[in-house]
Amino acid sequence: MCFAELGHDVFFVDVDPAKVDAIGSGISPIYEPGLDELLAKNRMRISATADTHQAIQDTEITFVCAGTPSNSDGSIDLTYMQSACRDIGHVLKQKDEKHIVVIKSTVLSGTTEGVVRRILEEESGKIAHIDFGLASNPEFLREGSALLDFFSPDRIVIGVADEISHQVLERLYSSFECPKVVTTIPVAEMIKYVSNAFLATKISFANEIGNICKQTGVDTAEVFWGVGLDHRINPAFFQSGIGFGGSCFPKDVRALISQAESVGVEPKLLKNVVGVNEKQPLKLVDLLQSHVPDLNKRRIGLLGLAFKPNTDDIRESRAIPIVERLLKEGANVIAYDPLAMNNFRKLYPQIEYASSAEDALDADAILITTEWEEFEELDYSGKIVIDGRGIEKARGGTVYEGVCW
Ligand code: UGA
Repeated sequence: MCFAELGHDVFFVDVDPAKVDAIGSGISPIYEPGLDELLAKNRMRISATADTHQAIQDTEITFVCAGTPSNSDGSIDLTYMQSACRDIGHVLKQKDEKHIVVIKSTVLSGTTEGVVRRILEEESGKIAHIDFGLASNPEFLREGSALLDFFSPDRIVIGVADEISHQVLERLYSSFECPKVVTTIPVAEMIKYVSNAFLATKISFANEIGNICKQTGVDTAEVFWGVGLDHRINPAFFQSGIGFGGSCFPKDVRALISQAESVGVEPKLLKNVVGVNEKQPLKLVDLLQSHVPDLNKRRIGLLGLAFKPNTDDIRESRAIPIVERLLKEGANVIAYDPLAMNNFRKLYPQIEYASSAEDALDADAILITTEWEEFEELDYSGKIVIDGRGIEKARGGTVYEGVCW
């Protein structure tokens, strides 16, 4: 949609007819602030189809945005990528004009020039970088602020190995003034993983230091404010709490660990980044039990189910291990989230869902798991509140404890 906003004609292709129909009727199949407005504004520039043939014949560039989830051993599952590339290769065989295939999906370094290239060449009978362009252009958008991130990027990374792809991608992004890193395809792919792995490391570091500060009575937020002012360090992504979730950090760190092991490198630091992250949400329940030792049949209010605010996405949400543990302890959970309750209900139909945040406060104790703005408006007086995300107003609870403060 952002490319359409820049004035380009965009075809959306998906194998899921429900998504194609939704986009075709002007409805975004995912929740993202500002996206519906952008869709409405640019209806004339977009079309949605399940027909890869038409979408490739009538365009210059194909961005592959298929999901790359984790296998159970942490390695990346390329099934969707491979299937999309087979379809694309099949059409490239019949297309006379030069076409460029750009991998936007998050794939491990070596994937584009390896499996992706092999499938495209096999299916098309053509040669990459000669008969068709092949490039990598990873994305750095955050859910919940994706449009802002697209239009104000810190940098644009373009991995290329042929001049046509280079020129077309430079032209596509010519209106952006940020630095453009034009590099090889394997470097571009690696930049994406290292960015996410570093940010995840920063969060686990903040949480480990936060755990120390909690025990020594030192104010964690002030510590990181002071630390972040060093320009070599930077204050962003130092918010300690119950750890990182979402569809990217946990999966990407695991995939990098799996790649490291496959090339004989022991990724000690990355393994501990995951280790700290897995323990952190359970600390919230430990703290709760220091105030309410026996949770059996106690009513526990849970504020926040999404992995972060401004999204309905619950993938790897830190609320999941917390609910698991509460249920194991026999607690009755009443949960509230402004957007994510429908998604969470599919996973946990057995818990109660409140119709408002106020209703979730009607409990023996409250856990805060996502920092939604509306949680700053609640009256916490008379409540036991255990805060995993740093909601200032919650300090008004009769009992208040933060996970790292
Ligand atoms: C992340 C990256 O920030 C994007 O740059 C990247 O494009 C994206 O992954 C991706 O690979 O597609 P996202 O997962 O949408 O974006 O969300 P983040 O804002 O990075 O937050 C991830 C998790 O870290 C959330 O659970 C959040 O609560 C947690 N977090 C974030 C902290 O615990 N502390 C912080 O200081 C910041």
